[in-house]
Amino acid sequence: MCGIVGYVGMRDPIPVILDGLQHLEYRGYDSAGVAVVHPAGIVVRKRAGKVAELVAAVAGDQALAGSTTGMGHSRWATHGEPNDVNAHPHTDCGGSIAVVHNGIIENYAALKKRLQARGHLFRSATDTEVLAHLIEDFRKTAPDLLSAVSAALREVTGTYGLVVLETASPGVMVAARLGSPLIIGVGDGEQIVASDAAAIVAHTRQVIYLNDGEIAEIKADAIRTTTLQDVTITKEIEEVTFDLSQIERGGFAHFMLKEIHEQPETIRNGMRGRLRADEGSVKLGGLEHVQERLAKSRRIIFLGCGTSWHAGLVGEYILEQIAKIPVEVEYASEYRYRTPIVGPEDVVFAVSQSGETADTLAAMREAKRHGALVLGIVNVVGSTIARETDGGIYTHAGPEIGVASTKAFTSQLTAMSLMTIMLAKSRGLSAADARVLTTELAAIPEKVERVVAQADEIRRIAQVYKDAKNFLFLGRGANFPVALEGALKLKEISYIHAEGYPAAEMKHGPIALIDEHMPVVVVVPRDAIYEKVVSNIQEVRARKGRIIAIANEDDHEIGALAEHVIRVPRTYGFFGPIVNIIPLQLLAYYIAVARGTNVDQPRNLAKSVTVE
Ligand code: AGP
Repeated sequence: MCGIVGYVGMRDPIPVILDGLQHLEYRGYDSAGVAVVHPAGIVVRKRAGKVAELVAAVAGDQALAGSTTGMGHSRWATHGEPNDVNAHPHTDCGGSIAVVHNGIIENYAALKKRLQARGHLFRSATDTEVLAHLIEDFRKTAPDLLSAVSAALREVTGTYGLVVLETASPGVMVAARLGSPLIIGVGDGEQIVASDAAAIVAHTRQVIYLNDGEIAEIKADAIRTTTLQDVTITKEIEEVTFDLSQIERGGFAHFMLKEIHEQPETIRNGMRGRLRADEGSVKLGGLEHVQERLAKSRRIIFLGCGTSWHAGLVGEYILEQIAKIPVEVEYASEYRYRTPIVGPEDVVFAVSQSGETADTLAAMREAKRHGALVLGIVNVVGSTIARETDGGIYTHAGPEIGVASTKAFTSQLTAMSLMTIMLAKSRGLSAADARVLTTELAAIPEKVERVVAQADEIRRIAQVYKDAKNFLFLGRGANFPVALEGALKLKEISYIHAEGYPAAEMKHGPIALIDEHMPVVVVVPRDAIYEKVVSNIQEVRARKGRIIAIANEDDHEIGALAEHVIRVPRTYGFFGPIVNIIPLQLLAYYIAVARGTNVDQPRNLAKSVTVE
């Protein structure tokens, strides 16, 4: 996620800001910048690339010297590619107001249009720049910067953690929060505001946590906090007890665990500004220009590797059942060498978290060479795959640091679910049915929260099976790819051999493996084929296999059939995989921790396989 550091006090702000941004590097980003307040105006230095490059670029830069108020930002691109222009801070027309921002301004397009009509000149492709011009507008009549920022934020829909500076107010920072964290470090004659305590604890452990809907005027020796309606709020000063390494993982033992717990929020972010549950509508800006060709396409082909290939398999079930579009899912590494039969009447989606996987990139280029419409479902904005497609959907999962993919997977499924509803509507799905689907999808984050809350119980179950030599994962329908993904999670971080199989297929061979040493994880929601999967469970039990069932909260029979049961909320059949994968992620994680492997960087693996 993006990082923010602001400073006001007696010292040169630049070293404090750059050191703070370096402590936020673990969060993943693709560009960085700083701004200081000078009597002559705001001085901004920003560029694509790493903080180290920014440090080198600003070293000895006299234009930045002599100020006592400044801020910095490391950006994880959501709107606009990672380049110098789109990097933060962003300024108003006259360069006298500067903003750094974390989050998504959902109504930025409408605001930008309104501001351009008033003569504002925009330089970047970001949603954030709208804030600088909106504040500029309100600043003309507001008594102070805080009032201007409050007025501007009352016009905004979306999420933000932001800091604003202006030439006219040296020694003042304005910080505001809605949906993206901001903390104020309270020093002796200086204050440091940041998106994460990791940038603050080197200077002070006394902090004020801004809450959603709060805005603060921060001076070297005073902090005033109000609501956006100018109601004063009294804030308590608290003590940060975490040490730096813990803070960088948000208090979690590993990035993978942090990213598993982030999923309710990242799934919400994937739907933010795109899903209108009450209207039963979906808006995907990256597909609007190809929607007609998509709806009329002969078939959709998903290309991917590993977890992304599993996401495609789930997408196949969802699209074929709901949008009635034929779908094929291909291992990218196979597809690229198969002289595929594909052409202009086909739509090919490259599915990739990193957007840099060599096999997926090559397969996508092969499809493009045959004239197919090539789109992306990608997490990293501006990545190679994203740049070479004709459009697509960014998954907005934020940077995924753990090598084992978790939140990226559920964000890919969210994107596919949104696309399915959009396409189904263009192919005759009724408004009423669409509303059922959008309502169900909107309820998913809360359901994921209920499963993540069982982490301790799943940790206890993991202790029982941590010494197993082999695992089998079974599922049917849209839960078959969930079984595959659960097996991949386990093998790649615990090094235990594991296989995913369609539950019925187990009879055609793998049943020979079943004995009292074989844990068998079965995804068995109460859907139309529940009884069939229960039969498969009986077959395993007859061979003394050890059943771990992933079953619904209201299933009262399964307890008699399984050694352990992990409960998941009932979910509309085809969106179930987004919830049903969570216990398998946690089971794999806790077994790996019990075995002492390097969970975030498992042996032999890379986060992005950019070679064949
Ligand atoms: C998943 O946990 C693995 N890290 C791996 O299979 C990964 O999904 C695969 O390499 C594809 O990566 P991508 O999504 O970045 O293209």
